[in-house]
Amino acid sequence: MKYNFARTPNRRDPNVLNKWTWYPPDVLPMWVADMDFPAPKPILDGLRKVVAQGVLGYELPSNALKETVAKRMERLYRWKVEPEAVTAVTGIVSGFSVAARAFCTAKRGVLVQTPVYNEFHELKNNVGIPQLNAPLVKRVNGNILTYEIDWDIFEKQAKKAGMFLLCNPHNPLGIIFSRKDLRRMAEICIENDVLIVSDEIHSELLLGDSKFIPMAKLSSEIANHTITLVSPSKTFNVPGLFCGFAIIPNQELRERYNREVEHLRLHVSSLGLHAARIAFSGQCDDWLAELRSHLTSNRDFLVEYVTRYMPQVRTTIPDATYLGWLDFTQTPIEDSPYDFFLKEARVALSDGKIFGAEGKGHVRINFGTSRKILQQGLDRMRRALRTIQ
Ligand SMILES: Cc1ncc(COP(=O)(O)O)c(C=O)c1O
Repeated sequence: MKYNFARTPNRRDPNVLNKWTWYPPDVLPMWVADMDFPAPKPILDGLRKVVAQGVLGYELPSNALKETVAKRMERLYRWKVEPEAVTAVTGIVSGFSVAARAFCTAKRGVLVQTPVYNEFHELKNNVGIPQLNAPLVKRVNGNILTYEIDWDIFEKQAKKAGMFLLCNPHNPLGIIFSRKDLRRMAEICIENDVLIVSDEIHSELLLGDSKFIPMAKLSSEIANHTITLVSPSKTFNVPGLFCGFAIIPNQELRERYNREVEHLRLHVSSLGLHAARIAFSGQCDDWLAELRSHLTSNRDFLVEYVTRYMPQVRTTIPDATYLGWLDFTQTPIEDSPYDFFLKEARVALSDGKIFGAEGKGHVRINFGTSRKILQQGLDRMRRALRTIQ
């Protein structure tokens, strides 16, 4: 190992509000989706260079940056993207909020597959549009959870939607949807004239031998109906720099989308633009390869730990992301495992309820940390569980 994923710098600065300072100091934070490791050196060196030069003036997304994003799509997926199809946005939440404002109406809302990333649930109020849920169906095998699409519900809800906000890989479930499922979702959306917005922010955090295919890569027809959202923020752990990209091959959609970006004056910070260019250039890919093996071994450790030491608790085996999903619905703490672990274990997890009603009795755990911290968190949870058994 060339890189050290045991090193987790201290982020407990009382003047800063982050996941390490949000709760009292005795609480171990395993919630917000950022990792505890420093970003890769080429990014940090690049940012140091800009800061050392001293002028932090206005900057716009350059052609060189758009070409870098396009080239990365080609290199990773053999997906040919024209640089002009790339628009820089102030993060992926802004990116899909813009799409909802541009393409949904009070009559045609946003279709989502619950339980799903909490920010997806904010669109209905923020944009004033209906939210159409197509809940994923939970299957249990021993203590392992998997989820499937209910196609009847998906199709029924698609008929009322203006846009389908796909989360692939899926947060919090860690699913990478198969080519077959993606194709069927796309067919239903195209038949019903529903725009596909594919949030692929976690697409490079692949675990084990998982493979990822972008929705828009499936066919030119699908690409023509799809806005793809990508970003270096999760992969290279620079989410605080708020820089992401919308890839929109269809010129008409792109013009509508870009108009909304301009109306909202969504301008990305210069440091975010610099970091993104370095992150997507390939200079950090050996770091990423090692990160993936570290995260894969953390995932395996988590699943084995839960299986061995937490009877009645169920877990997913995520294909991607650094997010685990634990099901306590068969235990005495089914009402609120989040509250129980915060109070009794001093571990802050993400409450399953924020991902939708189906998340009640579940929590999301962030394993994007050192093995030591992951084990410490699990040990605390295990001890707390013992007190109620
Ligand atoms: C699926 C998904 N989309 C978007 C985001 C956040 O994106 P950003 O910080 O770029 O707005 C997250 C963060 O957890 C996420 O999981």
